[in-house]
Amino acid sequence: MSLRLINGRDVAAQVTEALNDRLQALRVQGTNPGLAVVVVGDDPASHVYVRMKGKACERLGMLSRTHILPSVTSEDELLDMIDSLNADVEIHGILCQLPLPPHIDERKVIERIDPHKDVDAFHPYNVGRMLIGDPLFLPATPAGIQRLLMSYDVETRGKHVVVLGRSNIVGKPMASILMQKGDGADATVTVAHSRSKDLAGLCRQADILIAAVGIPLFVKADMVKEGSVVIDVGTNRVDDATSDKGYRLVGDVDFDNVKEKVSAISPSPGGVGPMTIAMLMENTVKAAEMSLRH
Ligand code: GUN
Repeated sequence: MSLRLINGRDVAAQVTEALNDRLQALRVQGTNPGLAVVVVGDDPASHVYVRMKGKACERLGMLSRTHILPSVTSEDELLDMIDSLNADVEIHGILCQLPLPPHIDERKVIERIDPHKDVDAFHPYNVGRMLIGDPLFLPATPAGIQRLLMSYDVETRGKHVVVLGRSNIVGKPMASILMQKGDGADATVTVAHSRSKDLAGLCRQADILIAAVGIPLFVKADMVKEGSVVIDVGTNRVDDATSDKGYRLVGDVDFDNVKEKVSAISPSPGGVGPMTIAMLMENTVKAAEMSLRH
């Protein structure tokens, strides 16, 4: 069977390109979308992601504001910053990069963001709207995975999707998106996690396996069904003395061995990551469009 490589960079470029007409229409009406990204502390991976988000905005000619706050920032200071971004008419999307330092209550911060500016779709209001199938925004990573599957004509209707991992950022929303009615959904979804019995057996039942556990090379060839489709959400840093940086990025899937068994696979890096950024841009454009309607 021939193997299809699911190339997230190509699809992300198409998603981004398609935003240009919408951006033009907004600018004719005097609005340029603005995204504020807040990062607290010095987690190196967070800073990489935040830089990529800012650059993606700039490439589209959108307003990008990045607020880098020290790790000693108090919860109240962060909440004040969110309040001022909520009130800022130039800012249509607000994103607070997670994780936050342990002295800050993540839920309090997320709940402070105006749901109409919550381009991460992490606010309980947006989580609820997603779950009932009437979303304002969809969270960028799972929405990007759905778009990738659709773009490669991977049928989800009636298929058994196993989502490995139950995080609020990927696993739970992924399951809730794919169980909805409609194109790119209508799947039978199993959410498997560290407490699941016979994890490997569950994974082997998957027509589509979505790995989001954050453990390097966790999914081995004996955990996948012959001919299935595998999406790797992981980007894990592993030590590598031969690399200039001292580390390299690997996915949650043992790509080299798994690729011999499956019909399609998304690599990491180069799969889901670029889609996350593209969908965030799409959400920010949508937020700006919504701001003109109310
Ligand atoms: N940390 C890891 N992924 C994400 C994301 O999509 N959004 C935010 N805000 N933080 C993250």
